[in-house]
Amino acid sequence: MNQNSNPITIFDEWFRAAQKAGVKEVEAMNLATASAAGIPSNRTVLLKKYDENGFVFYTNLESRKGLELRSNPFAALCIHWKELDRQVRIEGSVTQVSDEEADEYFNSRPLQSRIGAHVSQQSQPIGGDVDLLKAVAKKTAEFLGKKIERPKFWSGFRVTPQKIEFWQKGDFRLHTRCYYSREDGGKWRMGFLYP
Ligand SMILES: Cc1cc2nc3c(=O)[nH]c(=O)nc-3n(C[C@H](O)[C@H](O)[C@H](O)COP(=O)(O)O)c2cc1C
Repeated sequence: MNQNSNPITIFDEWFRAAQKAGVKEVEAMNLATASAAGIPSNRTVLLKKYDENGFVFYTNLESRKGLELRSNPFAALCIHWKELDRQVRIEGSVTQVSDEEADEYFNSRPLQSRIGAHVSQQSQPIGGDVDLLKAVAKKTAEFLGKKIERPKFWSGFRVTPQKIEFWQKGDFRLHTRCYYSREDGGKWRMGFLYP
Protein backbone atom coordinates (compact mmCIF):
# COMPACT_ATOMS: atom_id res chain seq x y z
CA MET A 1 0.00 0.00 0.00
CA ASN A 2 1.25 3.46 -0.93
CA GLN A 3 2.24 5.11 2.36
CA ASN A 4 1.33 8.65 1.39
CA SER A 5 1.21 11.19 4.20
CA ASN A 6 -2.15 12.48 3.01
CA PRO A 7 -5.12 10.07 3.15
CA ILE A 8 -7.19 12.24 0.80
CA THR A 9 -4.57 11.66 -1.90
CA ILE A 10 -4.74 7.91 -1.27
CA PHE A 11 -8.55 8.05 -1.35
CA ASP A 12 -8.38 9.85 -4.69
CA GLU A 13 -6.00 7.19 -6.08
CA TRP A 14 -8.27 4.39 -4.88
CA PHE A 15 -11.43 6.09 -6.17
CA ARG A 16 -9.89 6.56 -9.63
CA ALA A 17 -8.65 2.96 -9.62
CA ALA A 18 -12.20 1.79 -8.82
CA GLN A 19 -13.57 3.91 -11.68
CA LYS A 20 -10.92 2.51 -14.03
CA ALA A 21 -11.76 -1.04 -12.95
CA GLY A 22 -15.39 -0.39 -13.96
CA VAL A 23 -16.83 -0.78 -10.45
CA LYS A 24 -20.62 -0.42 -10.68
CA GLU A 25 -21.93 2.43 -8.50
CA VAL A 26 -18.40 3.44 -7.56
CA GLU A 27 -19.84 6.36 -5.54
CA ALA A 28 -22.08 4.16 -3.38
CA MET A 29 -21.18 4.24 0.28
CA ASN A 30 -22.77 3.14 3.49
CA LEU A 31 -23.69 5.99 5.80
CA ALA A 32 -24.17 5.29 9.50
CA THR A 33 -25.82 7.85 11.74
CA ALA A 34 -27.24 7.70 15.25
CA SER A 35 -30.16 9.37 16.95
CA ALA A 36 -29.58 11.75 19.86
CA ALA A 37 -30.23 8.73 22.11
CA GLY A 38 -27.46 6.78 20.34
CA ILE A 39 -29.69 4.39 18.36
CA PRO A 40 -27.81 3.61 15.11
CA SER A 41 -29.15 3.36 11.57
CA ASN A 42 -27.49 2.99 8.20
CA ARG A 43 -28.21 3.15 4.49
CA THR A 44 -26.49 3.69 1.12
CA VAL A 45 -25.91 7.18 -0.30
CA LEU A 46 -23.81 8.49 -3.18
CA LEU A 47 -20.53 10.30 -2.68
CA LYS A 48 -20.85 13.44 -4.81
CA LYS A 49 -17.65 15.29 -3.93
CA TYR A 50 -14.49 14.74 -1.91
CA ASP A 51 -11.50 16.93 -1.20
CA GLU A 52 -9.46 18.23 1.73
CA ASN A 53 -12.65 19.64 3.29
CA GLY A 54 -14.48 16.34 3.45
CA PHE A 55 -16.89 13.91 1.80
CA VAL A 56 -20.24 15.21 0.52
CA PHE A 57 -23.57 13.51 -0.16
CA TYR A 58 -27.06 14.92 -0.79
CA THR A 59 -30.35 14.05 0.80
CA ASN A 60 -33.64 15.20 2.29
CA LEU A 61 -33.02 17.13 5.51
CA GLU A 62 -36.29 15.82 6.97
CA SER A 63 -35.46 12.16 6.26
CA ARG A 64 -34.47 9.87 9.10
CA LYS A 65 -30.76 10.39 8.37
CA GLY A 66 -31.32 14.14 7.96
CA LEU A 67 -33.01 14.44 11.34
CA GLU A 68 -30.42 12.24 13.03
CA LEU A 69 -27.53 14.23 11.60
CA ARG A 70 -29.09 17.50 12.65
CA SER A 71 -29.49 16.32 16.25
CA ASN A 72 -26.27 14.29 16.43
CA PRO A 73 -23.83 15.62 13.79
CA PHE A 74 -21.43 12.67 13.52
CA ALA A 75 -21.31 9.98 10.86
CA ALA A 76 -19.38 6.94 9.70
CA LEU A 77 -19.00 6.08 6.01
CA CYS A 78 -17.94 2.73 4.61
CA ILE A 79 -17.18 1.99 0.96
CA HIS A 80 -16.51 -1.52 -0.34
CA TRP A 81 -15.00 -1.76 -3.80
CA LYS A 82 -15.44 -5.50 -4.17
CA GLU A 83 -13.73 -5.77 -7.56
CA LEU A 84 -10.52 -4.36 -6.02
CA ASP A 85 -10.82 -6.13 -2.65
CA ARG A 86 -10.71 -2.77 -0.94
CA GLN A 87 -12.65 -1.04 1.79
CA VAL A 88 -12.42 2.54 3.06
CA ARG A 89 -13.89 3.68 6.38
CA ILE A 90 -14.31 7.34 7.23
CA GLU A 91 -15.51 8.85 10.51
CA GLY A 92 -16.06 12.44 11.44
CA SER A 93 -18.28 15.35 12.27
CA VAL A 94 -20.96 16.53 9.86
CA THR A 95 -22.01 19.95 8.63
CA GLN A 96 -24.58 21.02 6.08
CA VAL A 97 -23.10 22.41 2.84
CA SER A 98 -23.77 26.05 1.96
CA ASP A 99 -26.94 26.97 0.06
CA GLU A 100 -24.76 28.03 -2.90
CA GLU A 101 -22.99 24.65 -3.02
CA ALA A 102 -26.29 22.77 -2.74
CA ASP A 103 -27.92 24.95 -5.44
CA GLU A 104 -25.04 24.33 -7.79
CA TYR A 105 -25.29 20.56 -7.42
CA PHE A 106 -29.12 20.55 -7.49
CA ASN A 107 -29.16 22.54 -10.74
CA SER A 108 -26.78 20.02 -12.35
CA ARG A 109 -29.22 17.15 -11.75
CA PRO A 110 -31.57 15.81 -14.46
CA LEU A 111 -35.07 17.34 -14.57
CA GLN A 112 -36.78 14.20 -13.24
CA SER A 113 -34.41 14.02 -10.28
CA ARG A 114 -35.09 17.66 -9.43
CA ILE A 115 -38.84 17.03 -9.55
CA GLY A 116 -38.36 13.85 -7.52
CA ALA A 117 -36.56 15.80 -4.78
CA HIS A 118 -39.59 18.09 -4.50
CA VAL A 119 -42.06 15.22 -4.40
CA SER A 120 -40.35 12.84 -1.99
CA GLN A 121 -41.18 13.26 1.66
CA GLN A 122 -38.30 10.87 2.24
CA SER A 123 -38.74 8.38 5.09
CA GLN A 124 -42.45 9.23 5.55
CA PRO A 125 -45.16 6.58 4.93
CA ILE A 126 -46.81 6.50 1.46
CA GLY A 127 -49.75 4.41 0.23
CA GLY A 128 -47.75 2.81 -2.60
CA ASP A 129 -46.09 3.31 -6.00
CA VAL A 130 -49.26 4.69 -7.60
CA ASP A 131 -49.43 7.50 -5.03
CA LEU A 132 -45.81 8.35 -5.83
CA LEU A 133 -46.51 8.44 -9.58
CA LYS A 134 -49.57 10.65 -9.01
CA ALA A 135 -47.52 13.06 -6.87
CA VAL A 136 -44.80 13.20 -9.56
CA ALA A 137 -47.40 13.91 -12.29
CA LYS A 138 -48.99 16.67 -10.18
CA LYS A 139 -45.65 18.31 -9.41
CA THR A 140 -44.50 18.04 -13.04
CA ALA A 141 -47.65 19.87 -14.16
CA GLU A 142 -47.09 22.57 -11.51
CA PHE A 143 -43.54 23.15 -12.71
CA LEU A 144 -44.43 23.41 -16.43
CA GLY A 145 -42.57 26.40 -17.85
CA LYS A 146 -41.07 27.33 -14.47
CA LYS A 147 -37.54 27.10 -13.08
CA ILE A 148 -37.26 24.30 -10.56
CA GLU A 149 -35.52 25.74 -7.51
CA ARG A 150 -33.92 23.49 -4.89
CA PRO A 151 -36.44 22.69 -2.16
CA LYS A 152 -35.38 24.12 1.20
CA PHE A 153 -35.66 20.64 2.75
CA TRP A 154 -33.06 19.14 0.38
CA SER A 155 -29.33 19.76 0.70
CA GLY A 156 -25.95 18.17 1.23
CA PHE A 157 -23.93 17.09 4.23
CA ARG A 158 -20.16 17.13 4.45
CA VAL A 159 -18.35 14.60 6.64
CA THR A 160 -15.11 16.18 7.87
CA PRO A 161 -12.85 13.18 8.42
CA GLN A 162 -11.29 12.59 11.81
CA LYS A 163 -10.29 9.01 10.94
CA ILE A 164 -9.80 7.26 7.60
CA GLU A 165 -8.91 3.59 7.29
CA PHE A 166 -7.81 1.80 4.12
CA TRP A 167 -8.29 -1.96 4.00
CA GLN A 168 -6.71 -4.11 1.33
CA LYS A 169 -7.40 -7.82 1.14
CA GLY A 170 -4.39 -10.07 1.67
CA ASP A 171 -3.88 -13.80 1.19
CA PHE A 172 -4.89 -16.11 4.05
CA ARG A 173 -6.80 -13.24 5.71
CA LEU A 174 -3.58 -11.34 6.32
CA HIS A 175 -5.19 -8.11 5.22
CA THR A 176 -3.54 -4.70 5.41
CA ARG A 177 -5.29 -2.07 7.52
CA CYS A 178 -3.74 1.35 7.33
CA TYR A 179 -5.36 4.12 9.37
CA TYR A 180 -5.00 7.88 9.50
CA SER A 181 -6.12 9.83 12.52
CA ARG A 182 -6.28 13.61 12.70
CA GLU A 183 -4.30 15.07 15.61
CA ASP A 184 -4.95 18.41 17.29
CA GLY A 185 -3.69 20.97 14.84
CA GLY A 186 -4.96 19.01 11.86
CA LYS A 187 -1.87 16.89 11.10
CA TRP A 188 -2.53 13.27 10.11
CA ARG A 189 -1.02 10.43 12.17
CA MET A 190 -0.64 7.13 10.33
CA GLY A 191 -0.45 3.57 11.62
CA PHE A 192 -1.49 -0.02 11.00
CA LEU A 193 -4.02 -2.29 12.71
CA TYR A 194 -4.19 -6.05 13.07
CA PRO A 195 -6.68 -7.35 10.51
C1 LIG B 1 -27.00 2.77 -4.62
C2 LIG B 1 -27.89 3.66 -3.79
C3 LIG B 1 -27.63 5.03 -3.75
C4 LIG B 1 -28.42 5.88 -2.97
N1 LIG B 1 -28.10 7.20 -2.91
C5 LIG B 1 -28.81 8.03 -2.10
C6 LIG B 1 -28.41 9.39 -1.92
O1 LIG B 1 -27.38 9.87 -2.47
N2 LIG B 1 -29.17 10.17 -1.12
C7 LIG B 1 -30.28 9.70 -0.48
O2 LIG B 1 -30.93 10.46 0.23
N3 LIG B 1 -30.67 8.41 -0.60
C8 LIG B 1 -29.96 7.57 -1.39
N4 LIG B 1 -30.32 6.24 -1.51
C9 LIG B 1 -31.50 5.76 -0.74
C10 LIG B 1 -31.08 5.52 0.71
O3 LIG B 1 -30.33 4.32 0.82
C11 LIG B 1 -32.28 5.47 1.69
O4 LIG B 1 -33.20 4.48 1.28
C12 LIG B 1 -33.00 6.80 1.79
O5 LIG B 1 -32.11 7.90 1.73
C13 LIG B 1 -33.80 6.90 3.09
O6 LIG B 1 -32.95 6.73 4.20
P1 LIG B 1 -33.36 7.20 5.69
O7 LIG B 1 -34.83 6.87 5.87
O8 LIG B 1 -32.48 6.44 6.60
O9 LIG B 1 -33.13 8.69 5.77
C14 LIG B 1 -29.54 5.35 -2.25
C15 LIG B 1 -29.78 3.98 -2.28
C16 LIG B 1 -28.98 3.16 -3.03
C17 LIG B 1 -29.24 1.67 -3.03
